[in-house]
Amino acid sequence: MIETGEMEFAPRMISPENTSEDSDIEVTLRPQSLHEYIGQEKVKENLAIYIKAAKLRGEPLDHVLLYGPPGLGKTTLSAIIAHELGVNLRVTTGPAIEKPGDLVSLLTSLSDNDVLFIDEIHRLSRAVEEILYPALEDRVIDIIIGKGPSARSIRMDLKPFTLIGATTRAGQLSAPLRDRFGVIQRLELYSKEQLTDIVRRSAMILGIPCTLDGAAEVAGRARGTPRIANRLLKRVRDFADVMGNGEINQQIASVALGRLEIDELGLDSLDRRMLSMIIRGYGGGPVGLETLASAIGEEAVTIEDVCEPFLMQLGFLGRTPRGRCATKLAYKHLGFKFQDDDNQLAL
Ligand code: ADE
Repeated sequence: MIETGEMEFAPRMISPENTSEDSDIEVTLRPQSLHEYIGQEKVKENLAIYIKAAKLRGEPLDHVLLYGPPGLGKTTLSAIIAHELGVNLRVTTGPAIEKPGDLVSLLTSLSDNDVLFIDEIHRLSRAVEEILYPALEDRVIDIIIGKGPSARSIRMDLKPFTLIGATTRAGQLSAPLRDRFGVIQRLELYSKEQLTDIVRRSAMILGIPCTLDGAAEVAGRARGTPRIANRLLKRVRDFADVMGNGEINQQIASVALGRLEIDELGLDSLDRRMLSMIIRGYGGGPVGLETLASAIGEEAVTIEDVCEPFLMQLGFLGRTPRGRCATKLAYKHLGFKFQDDDNQLAL
């Protein structure tokens, strides 16, 4: 695989964003086939059919858009798709393609039926996006040669290829770009059972002794996200090696995760700070996203992409047109007394 582009650094233990340390283990742990890939059953079933059909016809797979919260395996899935198709994969990100020329050189370097994966595709610039439209629709690119009145446009044919776009924010894609994807699949947060299987598989590959209840303890605090589960597994292993006999069991996992300030449901200090601010600072809400973000000194996108999907899945947070509200369940979890008339999301 050829990797192009930038990697972001995120210091939070349970941030689903990719860090350089994650990249090393992610490559080791990455399943190679749909068969090995745990979870996302509907997505897998559909993709298996589309891949088989494309191979039967000797055609490239239709362009695919994968969307959903970070850390759920969009890059992994795209590598599997390329592997199952038996073609090369080129990996890049929206912000790394700065100029139209960058995209032109990527597209013209592809071989027949190759897969081009663009992560964070919602961050492509308008000028780059415009190169992409005819490339996706008619497999051609229009290159402008020269400047001013003597400028000419030359049309170039491209080899058949598949674009896989990934985004955490499907709503931010322009309609013309979204409409050019034949396959649009949403990835969901994983269940605790699926994450337990992922932790056990990862522990086996890394040679870490891990009991079923130890894996379940890690899985239960990984906020539905395999990237977090694998990161926690590595940290818990440190505690097991130093404080125990190297084996990860429920007790050592619980102690380690407590030390990392990740509670039994997977909330970290940022989640708790955010909910406490809504409850204590704004009477349970509603409070606008930007107001909340500056009140706790965090970026609005982090709150929106990282905290909210998980807190909403837990039923701790409601989003209303007037802002964010903490639910009765959130009050209870954080040990606050709930007063019905304060909060419009009373259950
Ligand atoms: N490692 C990370 N994500 C995985 C998945 N969905 N299945 C198996 N192993 C994984």
